[in-house]
Amino acid sequence: MTFEVAITGVGYRVPERVVHNREFEARMATTDQWISERTGIRERRIADPEVALSDLAIPSGRQALDHAGLDPKDIDLVICGTSTPDMLMPSTAAITAHALGCTRAAAFDLEAACSGFVYALVVAEQFIRTGTYRNVLVIGGDILSKFINWDDRGTAILFADGAGAAVLSRSDRHGFLASTLGADGAGQDLIQIPLGSRTPPSGDKSLHVVHMKGREVYKWAVDNVPKILAQVADAAELTPADFDHIILHQANLRIIEAVSKRLGLRSDQMIVNVDRMANTSAGTIPIALAEAADQGRIKPGDRLCLLGFGSGLTWAATALTWTAPRPRSALARTATTGQEPFVTAPDRSDPGVLPSRSL
Ligand code: UT7
Repeated sequence: MTFEVAITGVGYRVPERVVHNREFEARMATTDQWISERTGIRERRIADPEVALSDLAIPSGRQALDHAGLDPKDIDLVICGTSTPDMLMPSTAAITAHALGCTRAAAFDLEAACSGFVYALVVAEQFIRTGTYRNVLVIGGDILSKFINWDDRGTAILFADGAGAAVLSRSDRHGFLASTLGADGAGQDLIQIPLGSRTPPSGDKSLHVVHMKGREVYKWAVDNVPKILAQVADAAELTPADFDHIILHQANLRIIEAVSKRLGLRSDQMIVNVDRMANTSAGTIPIALAEAADQGRIKPGDRLCLLGFGSGLTWAATALTWTAPRPRSALARTATTGQEPFVTAPDRSDPGVLPSRSL
């Protein structure tokens, strides 16, 4: 016997600090105009130094539980999709489950880079569909600002911090329709943070940060994302035009526009927040989803496609019908202003790639 599965609650949390493109101009050979024209990004949220992923994951999860109307003890499993956990061990999922009071829950992290949230959704869905669990809390998020070379204009302007969450529950309605997951390790050198058991922590900080062949990733995405989207639509017995809302990984507005053009999609189908949030890796899709639900843009009965892609290379897509009501209390957190600049001109006496940030 199998069971239907639906998303019953969402939440998100981003750091309060807003960093505008103009802040990069003092530090590297770039301009606000280049960044906005080539990526669609105008600003992003960056965490203060003491903030770790669980500091964003915990409030996201609390909002999602509240939206779902569940007690933390109702949760059977917590999965956190991330590449930037609080620590290599224990998992951020275990830390988050404990802080939320999910005392009955199993917990693990899932590493599929920017595809991590949708990968985790699909894993969670299987546990509920088979009857093993009733309620699963899925979190997707990253704090990539701590793993960036702030002198590399090819990555520093793109990545940011944030987390979002979704509660999946056994349902009497037909929520999840179809999903597809994939990986191609032949593209492992396209986006990497080398730090790990092959490259243990060392004095060479250039091995602790994101390295990306941006143009190649861009080409891969524009060639493959339309095929993945068409594939998941087909598996759900839909066409791409049937989706009311499509949330692609928010890596670059030009990728979203190119995919949309290739598939002949309408602009009102695409949910976009890359202009305000930049690329929060595993956080982009749950943050955009929770924002759209919070704004009442997504309504019960709407058909959604969520599609992530990134380092691995990995990709994950799911098609679902939205069944949750609009969250009762506003999820949005207002930004603070008047802070010191985040990205300062480099101190040339410091040869490290991660000079201290002005905070
Ligand atoms: O989340 C994981 C998935 N990641 C992605 O999907 C990222 C995909 N890639 C991209 O979004 C784009 O490739 C980038 C935004 C990273 C780069 O944009 P692009 O239009 O592909 O630029 P490019 O790499 O082809 O570089 C064009 C020029 C180069 O100068 P030359 O060689 O033509 O003189 C770059 O050095 O732009 C230069 N450039 C910049 N100029 C000003 C690269 N970054 C910058 C910058 N400001 N920040």
